[in-house]
Amino acid sequence: MSQHGTPRRILITSALPYINGIKHLGNLAGSMLPADVFARYQRLAGRDVLYICSTDEHGTPAELAAQKAGISVQAYCDEQYEIQRAAGEGFALSYDHFGRSSRQENHQLTQHFAHVLEEKDLIEERISKQVYSVDDGRFLPDRYVEGTCPDCDYEKARGDQCDHCGRLLDPVDLKNPYSAVSGGTNIEIRETAHLYLLQSHMQETIRTWVETSKDWPQLAKSIALKWLDEGLRDRAITRDLSWGIPVTNPDGSIREGFESKVFYVWFDAPVEYIASTKSWAAETGQPNLWESWWRKDKGAENVEYVQFMGKDNVAFHTVSFPVTIFGSGEPWKTVDRLKAFNWVTWYGGKFSTSEKRGVFMDQALDLLEGDYWRWYLIANSPEGSDAAFTWEGFQSAVNSDLANVLGNFVNRITKYTVSKFDGVLPDAGTAGEDEAWLAGELETRLAALSDHYEHMEFRKAAAETRAIWAAGNEYLTRAEPWVKYKTDKDAAAVGVRTGLNLVALFGIIAQPLIPGVSEKILGTLNIPEANRTWPKADDVANILDALPHGMEIAAPPVLFQKIEDEQVAAWTEQFGGEA
Ligand code: MF3
Ligand code: ZN
Repeated sequence: MSQHGTPRRILITSALPYINGIKHLGNLAGSMLPADVFARYQRLAGRDVLYICSTDEHGTPAELAAQKAGISVQAYCDEQYEIQRAAGEGFALSYDHFGRSSRQENHQLTQHFAHVLEEKDLIEERISKQVYSVDDGRFLPDRYVEGTCPDCDYEKARGDQCDHCGRLLDPVDLKNPYSAVSGGTNIEIRETAHLYLLQSHMQETIRTWVETSKDWPQLAKSIALKWLDEGLRDRAITRDLSWGIPVTNPDGSIREGFESKVFYVWFDAPVEYIASTKSWAAETGQPNLWESWWRKDKGAENVEYVQFMGKDNVAFHTVSFPVTIFGSGEPWKTVDRLKAFNWVTWYGGKFSTSEKRGVFMDQALDLLEGDYWRWYLIANSPEGSDAAFTWEGFQSAVNSDLANVLGNFVNRITKYTVSKFDGVLPDAGTAGEDEAWLAGELETRLAALSDHYEHMEFRKAAAETRAIWAAGNEYLTRAEPWVKYKTDKDAAAVGVRTGLNLVALFGIIAQPLIPGVSEKILGTLNIPEANRTWPKADDVANILDALPHGMEIAAPPVLFQKIEDEQVAAWTEQFGGEA
């Protein structure tokens, strides 16, 4: 709560996953998962949170994937949307809305931005030369033209870049060009008209905004400044494609000469953050509600907007999309904090969708429940640098952190209560030295944990969570209720009571990271929803004696299965994860 009693309002978006195929664990770890953890933490801390995501459905890859599957693009996207939605559910991603960039709301809003930008003289129609494949009957996007590099004569250079000498290329300069779609060599250079967004006119506005942004992490800021230093170039925001958002006049009719063109996917995708919020609002039955999140003239001036994305997305979010929204001259909410991630690496290489390298979200869920992956991916978040995925690392995170440190603690103390205290939370005895030690630990650690979440330091948050679980184990080692039981049952009762309250606390602080397991723990203890909110570091005395004396205690179901060496061997074989 703020001073005035109204909760902070936090808008969260994670980069929209492309529709063409299920996402791998690297995508998950670099955008949706940390956004979800952050959203869960902030909700527990009492903030008014709106977490929005969607599938990013336009562009050539979707068209080509549909073609390959032999179905319409619409049918392909419908199918893939369902798959991604279900995978998100499997990982317990707590979107308030998971939309689709191909929906009407996004068509309208994207077209609206184009109209306003043109009115403000920030859009201009220009003619350019593009590669046309007669065999495919289409213009080819840069990376779908291949040929011989004009600089080094490498024969498989891509239209946008030569992988051999590294030069950035213009596809019309390739020698012996051919279509990477069909292999067809019947290539022509044709003139085609496109809309250009005059980013160069916005250079100063964007620079001032980037430089005065207070809360951007370093990675995001340095990427944005690098682009600004190179100078913003005007860029085409339409493409010769049929799947996408039509280019219209303000009256809704198709713009002349743009009958077989649509907006470029990177022009419409970020607009979907807003459009998806509109769809959410419509579904809640309050169609105007989206405005209070996005329009600074309608209540959004007190919103904190936080974006999550992989580092390759930063330029689009710090430069291109801001050009669109600032250029409109309308009072849109812009990002306050931007959390960017490096890569999760896969045995020396990168996870790759096109090359099917790594573990994909659906496959992961076939192996183990979402919480196992959530824990490992957050504890090894690619925050400061790339993070290597290894099966051994995964095994040890699960077996030692989850099964040994958390799982054993919960089992040990609940089972002991059942066997020695008739399954009843004991009333006798008063706190002493060991409890004072524990309280001191928790005060420091809970404060640190909240701090890590507020600063979006996810690795540190996981490490601190684990440290709190470990402090519980250390407490039991000090208090030794099982030893005291033989001589002083009241002293043992204090240890058991404190231990059971720790179980509740451990479940509560685990909620952002492993919500499924937390639910099992808190459900077993019958902790009502209202008592599962984020614990305050200055409230430790109450936290350690919160459960009603005399309440019945049952041992929870098995919380974690350990990962056996044989499983690691089998998965290594199956996924080819070999050094
Ligand atoms: N689909 C893009 C990617 O996976 C991200 C789009 S983010 C948005 O790289 F802002 F454009 F939506
Ligand atoms: Zn070259």
